[in-house]
Amino acid sequence: QWSMETFIEDAIREIQERVGDRKVLCALSGGVDSSVVAILIHKAIGDQLTCMFIDHGLLRKGEADSVMETFSGKFDMNVVKIDARERFMSKLAGVSDPEQKRKIIGNEFIYVFDEESVQIGEFDFLAQGTLYTDIVESGTDTAQTIKSHHNVGGLPEDMRFELIEPLNALFKDEVRKVGEECGLPAEIVWRQPFPGPGLAIRVLGEVTEEKLEIVRESDAILREEIAKAGLDREVWQYFTALPNMKSVGVMGDARTYSYTVGIRAVTSIDGMTADWARIPWEVLEKISNRIVNEVDNVNRIVYDITSKPPATIEWE
Ligand code: XMP
Repeated sequence: QWSMETFIEDAIREIQERVGDRKVLCALSGGVDSSVVAILIHKAIGDQLTCMFIDHGLLRKGEADSVMETFSGKFDMNVVKIDARERFMSKLAGVSDPEQKRKIIGNEFIYVFDEESVQIGEFDFLAQGTLYTDIVESGTDTAQTIKSHHNVGGLPEDMRFELIEPLNALFKDEVRKVGEECGLPAEIVWRQPFPGPGLAIRVLGEVTEEKLEIVRESDAILREEIAKAGLDREVWQYFTALPNMKSVGVMGDARTYSYTVGIRAVTSIDGMTADWARIPWEVLEKISNRIVNEVDNVNRIVYDITSKPPATIEWE
């Protein structure tokens, strides 16, 4: 009985009635949920909406630019980009414990958001991409709490704002339909899950610029080859991770001592359980060759063949 057209019309009308001539702030991450919220609210109230996009420097290659091109460019929305890269890096310096890294990043997001939102202007509402499943999951003691998901449920209910959560009755697939109908590009609508702490939890141990660069570049190659092989909708999530490990290799006639890159690719319905993806060997071979040839300081590639459980999807 759920119809997307009526959902969009109703949501727009509700937002208009509730907001009136007041102002809304939306924290845009470039993920599906916050993107759909932003686009929906923009349809309803246009320039009364301002989006804040925090670049924490832990995004994938090209991601920050593509978010700006899409929302500020294509959709002509008010988007303020906050360059917080140095801030996050300095907070992460010397920290190697996974949970501590997550907490630092989650907290820093809130600090940056609080400080910067005051600079941008005065807002009555805060828009969030909370889904039905977020509400259900955060109320239970499920596997979600194995790792602290800092952006499940989003920012804290800051008393300065009233919350607008237009997606809170929807499931993920419905959110994607709304996004498609609103004209969001396929790369956002069909974006694979990406954790809030970003590449920081794919660099095992201490996060450094050098390691981030390896993960960012190898991940870009992996994504390119998965897309070329036509596997990008079949494989639910795929990325590279950098174990905190170097090993011996040989290049030309010289001995190398460089990093190992791990490839993770899984099939899953909802991320709660997952199976490792049976990617064709030729595709894996191509990816492996390209990464060792094109990414500096890498001499070995391994493929993760564990399911969840007992492993998790992410390596931290
Ligand atoms: P794990 O590693 O627990 O991941 O098997 C399950 C799914 O959740 C994603 N993930 C996160 N998503 N914030 C998120 O929004 C987080 O902190 C976070 N940690 C993991 C992970 O990418 C996978 O899709």
